[in-house]
Amino acid sequence: MTLPGARPAGIDDEGSAALAVREMFDSIAPRYDLLNHLLSSSVDRLWWWRAAWRFRDVLADPDAAILDVCCGTGDMTMALLKRRPKGARPIVAIDFARKMLDRGAKKFGARGAQAVEADALHLPVRPASLDLIVTAFGFRNLANYEAGLREFRRVLKPGGRLGILEFGTPAGFAGKVYAFYFRRVLPAVGRMICGKDGPYTYLPNSVGSFPPPSEMLELMRATGYEECSWQPYTFGIAGLYTAIRGAVA
Ligand SMILES: C[S@@+](CC[C@H](N)C(=O)[O-])C[C@H]1O[C@@H](n2cnc3c(N)ncnc32)[C@H](O)[C@@H]1O
Repeated sequence: MTLPGARPAGIDDEGSAALAVREMFDSIAPRYDLLNHLLSSSVDRLWWWRAAWRFRDVLADPDAAILDVCCGTGDMTMALLKRRPKGARPIVAIDFARKMLDRGAKKFGARGAQAVEADALHLPVRPASLDLIVTAFGFRNLANYEAGLREFRRVLKPGGRLGILEFGTPAGFAGKVYAFYFRRVLPAVGRMICGKDGPYTYLPNSVGSFPPPSEMLELMRATGYEECSWQPYTFGIAGLYTAIRGAVA
């Protein structure tokens, strides 16, 4: 693997990378939902729905302990909540960008999720205590992917489930069309609405340098996960990694 984790332009150490990512998300929080739905033509809603559906059995268990990491403005959390029975244990939704989290909390606060400001690489969670961790479009932004997987493993129960929804790079003709959109159109529209250059240039760059599915699956196995798989969504523009926390690291 070329990179241990996300590196915004001009930054090469983990601490500064995490700080830059946090500041970037705080700065785009007011426009994040609008841009997200606009730039994905709301296909993102389908992706969150599909990811939640995949874990419908765990979500249906009222006692299951569930964490949404990098919850941002809370759309993944909302999709998970729709599958929780009445009176179920609250989902804990974590993010380190306060302004993203505040927006999320407004959506899911009264619906059975609890917002916690925390770093995904240092979760304020007891070891081996969770049944399910889901993270949507956040994992790619971690300053160290291996450390992220190890931290998730630390807090999952043996047999606990992991779902990582993340962007991908489609192949073939669809890939060429998508690359043009992602590298040219998206940064220009993002710049227009956000009023700044950085975040929507960072997005295609971070997807481009994220490990391909074969490498991610290898890393997941090497960090103590079993039954690792990747399911492409919408020609591979996005995809869901799933795994089970193995008993042996
Ligand atoms: C692209 S947004 C995704 C938000 C939401 N999950 C969704 O699907 O729309 C990525 C989120 O990950 C958060 N994030 C990135 N690195 C993080 C870290 N190390 N710890 C906690 N949150 C992090 C960012 O603050 C941001 O809110």
